[in-house]
Amino acid sequence: MRVLVSGGAGYIGSHTVIQLIAAGHDVIVVDSFANAKPSVVGRLEALTGMPLDVRSFDLTDHDKTEHLFADEQIDAVIHFAGFKAVGESVEKPLEYYENNLVSTFSLVRAMRRHDVRKLVFSSSATVYGDNAQVPMQEDAPTSATNPYGWTKVMIEQVLRDVAEADPSWRIALLRYFNPVGAHPSGTIGEDPSDIPNNLMPFIAQVAVGRREKLSIYGGDYPTPDGTGVRDYIHVEDLAAGHVAALHRLGQTDTSVNTWNLGTGHGTSVLEMLHAFERAVGHELAHEVVDRRPGDIAESYADPTKAQAELGWRATRTVDDMCVDTWRWQSANPDGYP
Ligand code: UFG
Repeated sequence: MRVLVSGGAGYIGSHTVIQLIAAGHDVIVVDSFANAKPSVVGRLEALTGMPLDVRSFDLTDHDKTEHLFADEQIDAVIHFAGFKAVGESVEKPLEYYENNLVSTFSLVRAMRRHDVRKLVFSSSATVYGDNAQVPMQEDAPTSATNPYGWTKVMIEQVLRDVAEADPSWRIALLRYFNPVGAHPSGTIGEDPSDIPNNLMPFIAQVAVGRREKLSIYGGDYPTPDGTGVRDYIHVEDLAAGHVAALHRLGQTDTSVNTWNLGTGHGTSVLEMLHAFERAVGHELAHEVVDRRPGDIAESYADPTKAQAELGWRATRTVDDMCVDTWRWQSANPDGYP
């Protein structure tokens, strides 16, 4: 298939591009490079051994999006592009709603006009809000606690309505749990542009000497060791989930399909820190501080629907995630050039 990958230079997008090419697909990347570094492209080309077709523009530009679909024969789209920082979304709600929604409208309009009806959308476990039962199941009610999360809830709803109006669509809503890890080559990985908000890149920057110590947000949660529990999933497993979802969309009778992409296992902040210490070979400075507002005690997936319907499951362990992240971070202490 000829697959358009929006946000294909980003963290999850770049790992997925490699697996799409390995599976025999022809890939076009569209990326604004607002949150990705251009040097990713050369590394992807080195890993895949072929030139990558990259279009550098913002999907909110409807004319450029329309022209791309007019000029190229595209069979399916994987839509990763979007702003994703929870804290920033609270400070800049209008920018988040506008960017994430308008880019999706522009993309889906162009798809409809050019009769491209297969879409895989990057949703998030954040749509389960702060009241869900664990393990989280796809039929749980959705809500959000911040503007970033609401953009995911809203886009899911828009896509369900689009598919309701025209059942020839084949849409996958993939709800990711906590993506971590890096490509085993150590040449591509997560490279936050600012101080990392997320646990794994923060630990990795402490390990490499860019940050003094990890602040553990809360040691008094009702969890086995008092720290927050999450379902960390290796980005390579996540990328494989996208390829599986894309293939499944060619066979399914249902126009919208929602799949959790998680391992089904919860790991606490302390367990993750200790796994990273094993990967690095020494202890890492940390202190327990107050809870971070908006955080929940525990979040982990019920992945059985994806396992049954996609024939996919996450296989990499927390130790694999830490070893691969450390290989990437130690080889690239300041991220991409
Ligand atoms: N944590 C720390 N210290 C840090 C960073 C995080 O203790 O410096 C803790 C958090 O309190 C939480 C856990 O590590 O218990 C994971 O936090 P992350 O920020 O890595 O991830 P979240 O689960 O908060 O959020 C992530 C993504 C969101 C997404 C959500 C879906 O960042 O985009 O998962 O569940 F919406």
